Amino acid sequence: MAHFRAAILGCGGRGRAHAEGYAAAENAEIVACVDPVEENAKRLADRYGVEKVYSDYRQLLEETKPDVVSVCTWPHLHREMVEASVAAGAKGIHAEKPMAPTWGDSKAMHEACETAGVMMTFCHQRRFNPEFRKARDLIRNGAIGEIVRLEGYCPNMYDWGTR
Ligand SMILES: NC(=O)c1ccc[n+]([C@@H]2O[C@H](COP(=O)([O-])OP(=O)(O)OC[C@H]3O[C@@H](n4cnc5c(N)ncnc54)[C@H](O)[C@@H]3O)[C@@H](O)[C@H]2O)c1
Repeated sequence: MAHFRAAILGCGGRGRAHAEGYAAAENAEIVACVDPVEENAKRLADRYGVEKVYSDYRQLLEETKPDVVSVCTWPHLHREMVEASVAAGAKGIHAEKPMAPTWGDSKAMHEACETAGVMMTFCHQRRFNPEFRKARDLIRNGAIGEIVRLEGYCPNMYDWGTR
C-alpha cells in the first residue's frame, strides 16, 4: 500500500480535523504542520506526534516536500497555498471550502493543478452525512417521484452554499 507524507497548512479547527483523518489512515503520516500562531501549531503537533513545526508555509513546502497537502486556512490564502504546493511537487491537495474568494482565483487553482497533474479536492463532507445520502437514495429510487422543484436555505451562500 502506498505511503503518503502529509503536511497541514493552518492548525486551527479544520487543521485539527484533517489531522484526525490522517491519524486514522493506515497509509499516511503527518510529516509537518505550519501556523504563524505558534501555540496552534504546537498543539496540533503535540497531539498527533508531528515532528516538524513551522511558522512559514513556504519553508515547510521547500524543506519537507510533502506528497499530500491539507490547506486549512482562511479562503483568501487558499490560492497562494495551492499554487505553492503544486510548485513544491505535491501530488494531492485537500483544501477547505469555500474554494476561494473569487471565480478567477478558483480557475487559477484548477488550472495549476490540472497542468501539473495534481489531484485537488475540497472539504465538502456534509454531502456524506446520512440524512443527505438518504434523501439522495430516495430520489434515485423513485420513492418521491420526479423532482420538479427544490428549495433550500442557508444563512451564508458564499460559505455554506458551496457544499
Ligand atoms: N468543512 C467544514 O466543515 C468547515 C468547517 C469550518 C470551517 N471551514 C473552513 O475551513 C477554513 C479554516 O477554518 P477554521 O475554522 O479552521 O479557522 P481557524 O481560524 O480555526 O484556523 C485557521 C488557522 O490558519 C492559521 N493561519 C493563518 N494564516 C496562516 C498562514 N499564512 N500559514 C499557516 N497558517 C495560517 C491561523 O493562525 C489559524 O490557526 C476556512 O476556509 C473555513 O471556511 C470548513
